[in-house]
Amino acid sequence: MTTINHFIDLPDIDPDVLKGIIRNAHEMKKFKFNPPQIFSGLSLAMVFDKRSTRTRMSFEVAMKQLGGHTIPMTMAEMQITDSESIEDTGQVLSRFVDAVMIRMSDHDTLVNLSNNTYIPVINGLTDHSHPCQIMADIVTIEEKLGDIQGKKIAWYGDYNNVARTFVQAATIFDFELVMAVPEEQHENNTPYLSFTAEPMQASIDADVVVTDTWISMGEDGKSTAQFEPFKVTMDIMGQARDNALFMHCMPIHRGHEVDDAVLESKHSVIYDEAENRLHAQKAILAWCLSEAGVRVQQSFNFEEQ
Ligand code: CP
Ligand code: NVA
Repeated sequence: MTTINHFIDLPDIDPDVLKGIIRNAHEMKKFKFNPPQIFSGLSLAMVFDKRSTRTRMSFEVAMKQLGGHTIPMTMAEMQITDSESIEDTGQVLSRFVDAVMIRMSDHDTLVNLSNNTYIPVINGLTDHSHPCQIMADIVTIEEKLGDIQGKKIAWYGDYNNVARTFVQAATIFDFELVMAVPEEQHENNTPYLSFTAEPMQASIDADVVVTDTWISMGEDGKSTAQFEPFKVTMDIMGQARDNALFMHCMPIHRGHEVDDAVLESKHSVIYDEAENRLHAQKAILAWCLSEAGVRVQQSFNFEEQ
């Protein structure tokens, strides 16, 4: 039986496969201006039920640079909005395209869709997780600081979908994650994960300081007062290592979750991080499509990595 390489949540995927995808993302970056045409004849449907700049651009450019096609749609344009079932939608998409990337709020609906398709489903962000982002973040950390294993990452602000995916990644990629978030968001510590409500503590000797918006898409009107102490400032960066990175998946709300001075400092790698969405996306697509295209199989044999 053919396996379907869905990319929905990091813990669902063999850690060696994830590490192979990261290696391939680094390789893809080397071929930035001479991309191999490994997706020739393959199509990706891109379905959005939320806004996007980076995810939309990176998937679209990734497919096209590697010789493939994209069909971008908003969910509002699809019959699913007028009560066509997830099951029928999944079955029909499987007859047209080779993979589907979806951004939507409800994670369970995305999983349900994946259970009703014969093509890979890629999570382009749900309220639960954002695995494509964290893969690009790992690529960025590794290209700046070397192997992510053993690094200390300090997360600031809201324990949201992006933070949750960092938590998942810490176990898989063996790094230390300290979460500087409000006390009501604290969970039990693990060997990889600890929580603090002391902002100046979390970044001590950190290799990476990372934050995200306090108001994720769909949370309009949410109070942000509890996150104010966790704004990333130069004082917080001063506790970190001298070569520490400041990261943010973007879009940024300047002066809220992070001060301008941090964004303008030597620590900030936000635009490299954004660019690496493209290279990571190519490697994720190559794995997802490896069952679909002979050229993809020949170019990227994940079994052997
Ligand atoms: N970081 C990220 O996913 O950006 P977009 O919302 O612009 O896709
Ligand atoms: N946490 C943010 C990430 C945006 C890329 C959101 O869900 O809106």
